[in-house]
Amino acid sequence: MCEERRRILVATTNPGKIAEMRAMLGGDVRWLGLADVEEIAEIAEDGATFAENARKKALGYAKATGLWTIADDSGLVVDALDGAPGVISARFSGEKLEGDERTLIDHRNIAKVLELLEGIPENKRTARFVCRLCLARPENVLIETEGTLEGLITTVEIGEDGFGYDPIFFVPGLNKTVAQLASKEKNAISHRGNAIRKLQPLLTELITR
Ligand code: IMP
Repeated sequence: MCEERRRILVATTNPGKIAEMRAMLGGDVRWLGLADVEEIAEIAEDGATFAENARKKALGYAKATGLWTIADDSGLVVDALDGAPGVISARFSGEKLEGDERTLIDHRNIAKVLELLEGIPENKRTARFVCRLCLARPENVLIETEGTLEGLITTVEIGEDGFGYDPIFFVPGLNKTVAQLASKEKNAISHRGNAIRKLQPLLTELITR
């Protein structure tokens, strides 16, 4: 097994995502975050699809560092809004203003979704969280996976936990919004958890080949 294969960069500054990858993918891998490598100019998430963004980030960081790199892109897709907020989920209500708290943006994004869905009946409020993962080396893409979580958009915020659109994303099978789930419960069903679980056997096969 060559040394390059055992060092994998998770192209994120979010320590939670690195810990999640490490815990779920484990294996004979040294997991690195962006804080562990030389500073690289941020790669814009300006693609038209989650797949494009994940691929662009994974290849971009792999080329810049020479490392195998995993990148993700995720967001909320609402059927009645023709797939919006989609790839602009993080900035659906506008770009972040100076001094804005993340939670403030989350609330504004939620308010916009609820307003656009006003008067839409429950059976037409179907939505999904989507997470696309891409593992690339500098030369090419190695693995791509996608995980989803199906649900319904509520009419009001329910629950205190999680982030982003969690308080308005109702999971019928659990009779709760994602913001009412403990993080372990969320990981077990989430789009990101599902994408990581699909990646795991493919990565193991690749590094033990
Ligand atoms: P990113 O892929 O981390 O950039 O996430 C993009 C945006 O999608 C986030 O800022 C959230 O608004 C939304 N999003 C992604 N995953 C989740 C989730 O698990 N819960 C709630 N919102 C999410």
